Amino acid sequence: MNKTIALIRGDGIGPEIVEQAQRVLNKVAELYGHRFSYTDVAMGGCAIDQYGDPLPESELKKCLASDSVLLGAVGGPKWNDVPGTMRPEKGLLRLRAGMGVYSNNRPAKIWPQLADASPLKRSIVDEGIDFIIVRELIGGIYFGEHKTETVDGKTTAIDVLTYGEHEIERIGRIGFETARKRGKRLCSVEKSNVLDSSRLWKKVMHRLAEEYPDVELSDMLVDNCAMQIVKNPSQFDVLVTENMFGDILSDEASMITGSIGMIPSSSLGSSACGLYEPIHGSAPDIAGMDLANPIGTILSAAMMLRFSFDLPREADAIEKAVAAYLDAGYRTADIMSEGMKQVGCRACGDIIIESLRKE
Ligand code: IPM
Ligand code: MG
Repeated sequence: MNKTIALIRGDGIGPEIVEQAQRVLNKVAELYGHRFSYTDVAMGGCAIDQYGDPLPESELKKCLASDSVLLGAVGGPKWNDVPGTMRPEKGLLRLRAGMGVYSNNRPAKIWPQLADASPLKRSIVDEGIDFIIVRELIGGIYFGEHKTETVDGKTTAIDVLTYGEHEIERIGRIGFETARKRGKRLCSVEKSNVLDSSRLWKKVMHRLAEEYPDVELSDMLVDNCAMQIVKNPSQFDVLVTENMFGDILSDEASMITGSIGMIPSSSLGSSACGLYEPIHGSAPDIAGMDLANPIGTILSAAMMLRFSFDLPREADAIEKAVAAYLDAGYRTADIMSEGMKQVGCRACGDIIIESLRKE
């Protein structure tokens, strides 16, 4: 199979972690007889430095012309003072919107080898943590009007949160379909005791539920959900929620599994061309020090093979190689614990590549 992958190395630790994922993809290609070719795309702070724009139109076009996009991370303190519309993160939001990837899938699953890295009590972890957050990605407050105005010396900042029925329905369907393929339980998370957009959200989810009688739908307020994720995470199978709630809850969910550095994500819209990225940030404090954990990006590459290229055996092979690396006791600094062998970002890539086997 021949595929073109747009690589967005980005800022901070982005280039180091993407390099390891690319090496893993190349090894998979060699083992299974595929050809992956890569197009470099500038986005984020590095694109601001190079072009004065976090995502120039020409870079977005490269992504749209590729079969899928693999992204490291963007942002950093260097660009903290640029105007809101020109921030590195704005490049990411424009990419998501430009690709139309409205559905973001963020798994929260504990690796048994890392149970001790979870900040939760062992008794809670042992109940099992294995759920998916389906996050709406191109609507809501992230994409509403943002403005700050000063009238008579008083400054007001405004961010508008809007959801149309159609936007809720399409992400709701992804939630139900995802639950249908798993434990058949879908929890819709909103703030319907306060927000109109959440009341519409809840109404649409219940209307959809009639089409998915095999899936059990429940509702949860987002503040309660934040609490339940640490109190009793084993109750969840699939959560479906709006953009900002999904952003916040997915950081929380990743942390209880041990390290945010381990969690991949996929973002898809109506075509097979997806955007794959680890859910962590650019960690500028450790950039260039060979300390970063590349596994979130490597597992994102596995998701790309599974969901965009329909190569499940190849994706399984990567996940097994990651498990073999953990089983052998290797750990990057973020998940290091007593008795384990600490390795850097590149050595982590080396060991995973050596562990890769054709199934
Ligand atoms: C994420 C990140 C982004 C988001 C930022 C970098 C814009 O936090 O992917 O979770 O808020 O969506
Ligand atoms: Mg986030």
